[in-house]
Amino acid sequence: FMKRRKIWNHFPPGPTPLPFFGNVLQMDFKRLPICFTQMSKRFGNVFSFQVGWTNVVVLNGFEVMKEMLLKKSEDIADRPPIPFYSKIGLDQGLVMMKYGHAWRDLRRFSISTLRNFGLGKKSLEERVIEEAGYLCSEFESKEGQPFDAHYLMQNATSNVIASMVFGDRFQYDDDKFQKLLYLLDQNMKLGKGLLPQILNVAPWLRHVPGPHQKYVKCLYNYLSFLEEIVEEHKKSWDPSHQRDYIDAFLEEMEKAKDDPGNTFKETTLLAATCDLFGAGTETTATTLRWALLLMLLYPDIQRGVHEEIDRVIGRDRRPVLDDQMNMPFINAVIHEIQRYGDIIPLSLPHFTYRDTEIQRFFIPKGIIIFINLSSVLKDETYWEKPHQFYPEHFLDAEGKFVKREAFMPFSAGRRVCLGEQLARMELFIFYTTLMQRFSFHIPENQPRPREDPVFTFTFSPHRYQICARLR
Ligand code: HEM
Repeated sequence: FMKRRKIWNHFPPGPTPLPFFGNVLQMDFKRLPICFTQMSKRFGNVFSFQVGWTNVVVLNGFEVMKEMLLKKSEDIADRPPIPFYSKIGLDQGLVMMKYGHAWRDLRRFSISTLRNFGLGKKSLEERVIEEAGYLCSEFESKEGQPFDAHYLMQNATSNVIASMVFGDRFQYDDDKFQKLLYLLDQNMKLGKGLLPQILNVAPWLRHVPGPHQKYVKCLYNYLSFLEEIVEEHKKSWDPSHQRDYIDAFLEEMEKAKDDPGNTFKETTLLAATCDLFGAGTETTATTLRWALLLMLLYPDIQRGVHEEIDRVIGRDRRPVLDDQMNMPFINAVIHEIQRYGDIIPLSLPHFTYRDTEIQRFFIPKGIIIFINLSSVLKDETYWEKPHQFYPEHFLDAEGKFVKREAFMPFSAGRRVCLGEQLARMELFIFYTTLMQRFSFHIPENQPRPREDPVFTFTFSPHRYQICARLR
């Protein structure tokens, strides 16, 4: 009794809940990150709300995140149970697996395997440079006419992860590849609404006909597509010649096959493949879509980027990662694209792994935690112009690049993005190569594209058309 009293007396404050509904009727789910930031002004940087009878805590602002993500990271390193995902094995991958030894084994294995397949080495850099070349050819083939680069960005980024995980890239017009990317896109779209939430409360509904079947079928199709790739790998597997992440995983499965408690099972392989492909494609592609949109909207900044490229790299040699050190302006622009684009505004859901305290509040083990990254990337007490696109946030008075502590688009702590290094490399090479070859314009007689984001689980730009002229 005393413990319960301690918990609820010191639990973070929040709006008064209604019986059965909790606070869901008071929340604006279409603009959740903005709604959270507004609530934090009323209830403070650590506040709570209820979904039905379930308590959720939201963390906001740089100071709170520094304390929680950096100093007490393990306390919130768990993930909440997602019953629908558990039924189909998706809680066994890198992203949603419970914190513990199995997650640690899988994360360690994945990082070292991606390194073996080139991460942090010249070989992968060359692969990305080659892919940037294919992307430029596609842009060039539009001959300055208006087009939507949405899928091309996805083609390019998913090919980088595909070459490490599946061992090969795809041609942009390959039917199989187009189908995979279409399913990925649909999953993102359909997964945002109320239906997936209902499936979580009642996972058995996946067997019942209804409008939610569109989402269920799309997810099943996506998984069976990846299953096919895993099956093909099993048939052609040769332990003496490791081709990719899947092969390396099959070898771990073979080594651990007699240990019933081992991490390396087929369900984990499928979920991890699904996670790497999903997390590795959409995030980087969305950031590149913001990058081109912002170049359309801010021609002066585009001009500054062109000037730096001409001065440091010239027009003939292809950009390489080492150039970044000598290009403070581009480096600042890319950081600002990530800050302003704020593409994963609420990170992924966390779950308290043990009882913890933050500021003067007590949060018991087993509570869902939302990390409002948006409130850090746009923290009004930290950034000079939090709601404007302003690359000077990352430049000092002499034009040198400066790191900023509140730059956390990849989150931080135990669950920090596993692909940060890969994403940063891709962003620099794809962006700089495109900017070297083209100048970007709003198509004639078309209105200025919208600058506000669409919120699904990500903040992405509204669809827009672009004209790419060879420089
Ligand atoms: C997790 C951001 C690219 C793989 C995350 C998280 C964020 C994030 C915010 C959640 C961290 C947390 O739970 O606190 C981004 C951004 C990217 C990007 C902004 C690109 C601009 C990538 C790429 C990969 C990747 C290219 C592929 C290798 C993952 C994985 C996790 C993750 C596997 C789950 C980590 C875990 O739970 O242990 N990412 N990411 N991400 N990301 Fe990324």
